[in-house]
Amino acid sequence: MLNVKKIRKDFPMLSNKSKKGHDLIYFDNAATTFKPQAVIDAVCEYYTSYSVNAHRGDYELSYQVDQQYESSRKTVANFIHADVKEIVFTSGASESLNLVAYGYGQKYLTEGDIVLSSEAEHASNILPWMKACEVTKATLDFIPLLDTGKIDVEAFKLKMNHHVKVVTLAQVTNVLGYVVDIQKICEIAHEYGAIVVVDGAQSLPHMPVDVKQLDCDFFAFSAHKLCGPTGVGVLYGKYELLQMSDPFMFGGGSNARFDMCGNILLKDAPYRFESGTPAIEAVLGMKAAINYIMNIGMEHIHAYELELREYLVAQMRQLENVVIYNDHNDSGIVTFNIKDVFSQDAATYFSDYGIAIRSGQHCAKLLMNKLNTSSTLRASVYFYNTKEEVDHFIKICSQINADTMLDVFF
Ligand code: ALA
Repeated sequence: MLNVKKIRKDFPMLSNKSKKGHDLIYFDNAATTFKPQAVIDAVCEYYTSYSVNAHRGDYELSYQVDQQYESSRKTVANFIHADVKEIVFTSGASESLNLVAYGYGQKYLTEGDIVLSSEAEHASNILPWMKACEVTKATLDFIPLLDTGKIDVEAFKLKMNHHVKVVTLAQVTNVLGYVVDIQKICEIAHEYGAIVVVDGAQSLPHMPVDVKQLDCDFFAFSAHKLCGPTGVGVLYGKYELLQMSDPFMFGGGSNARFDMCGNILLKDAPYRFESGTPAIEAVLGMKAAINYIMNIGMEHIHAYELELREYLVAQMRQLENVVIYNDHNDSGIVTFNIKDVFSQDAATYFSDYGIAIRSGQHCAKLLMNKLNTSSTLRASVYFYNTKEEVDHFIKICSQINADTMLDVFF
């Protein structure tokens, strides 16, 4: 059981009011999450007590920073059950996914190969593969979604053949929030010799993840969606695959030596992918975030979110002005529209009452055709949200219709 009342005190943002004086209700956690004081302190501590570069100096402060930086890698590795040398620090899930598409995809794909993805993917998990396919003349293909928008293992199986070299999917899709059976997908893909790339941006913050158990080949995520700082994320890769991949950025820190003939000897993974001064404070903040949420327990977080989601959806089903697109799923994401009201107008109405939800296409433009709408509203809860917040959200939601919008805008 979570002590949400106590947890909320750890998040300074949660005691803020909106400009109009309403309590802030933050239901846009799929976009980013609030940070607990422990994370803010870790970031500030780096600047107040260390503030020197990592992997560069031979003085005391530098050693201390190196130790903390590398212990963050260990924390991440423990969190997802990987080895430290399989953890590459990046700027976020988008960079991690691009790194695989450029460093592995562009190197190994050839004409006739297939990259298999889905229409439910975030742009960051499609566009890098579109580019890789353009460059290598491979083909990007899509697993047909069920009518609900779900990715089904049987439909995936029908698409598999020996030309498929890469399968790239989100473990939890960012608009509809469906959980994909990645373990099964990996099992089948591996039978055909394909690798599986997982966008874990919407799963890792909300449920236990064990990359060894999933047996995925690459797994990408961002810290900011799991209570950590922005500007940092992770690419997990099986070590032999990382060693086979090229960096798509070169510079200091990633090479062992180079000469005037153009010979470059790269360091082993993960360092070959980490050129330049990294976001050190963000890496240390990510460690604090992981420690914070591990202390609460991923099982507890997941169970609480599902309970909160069920509480929210049960009330939304009673509202005649609402269309829900993902009535049943196993995540804290609820995607909906208010009948006859443009999503952005509805989001503005919610905002007037201190409620933050996302509207639009949520970077998943292909999915909108499937849902037969130009845009949606998305409410996404996290472990610090409460049933009282849901009640207020429902009250405001029930007020919105074409007439109330006329009153607001004219
Ligand atoms: N990827 C983030 C989202 O889905 C920004 O909202």
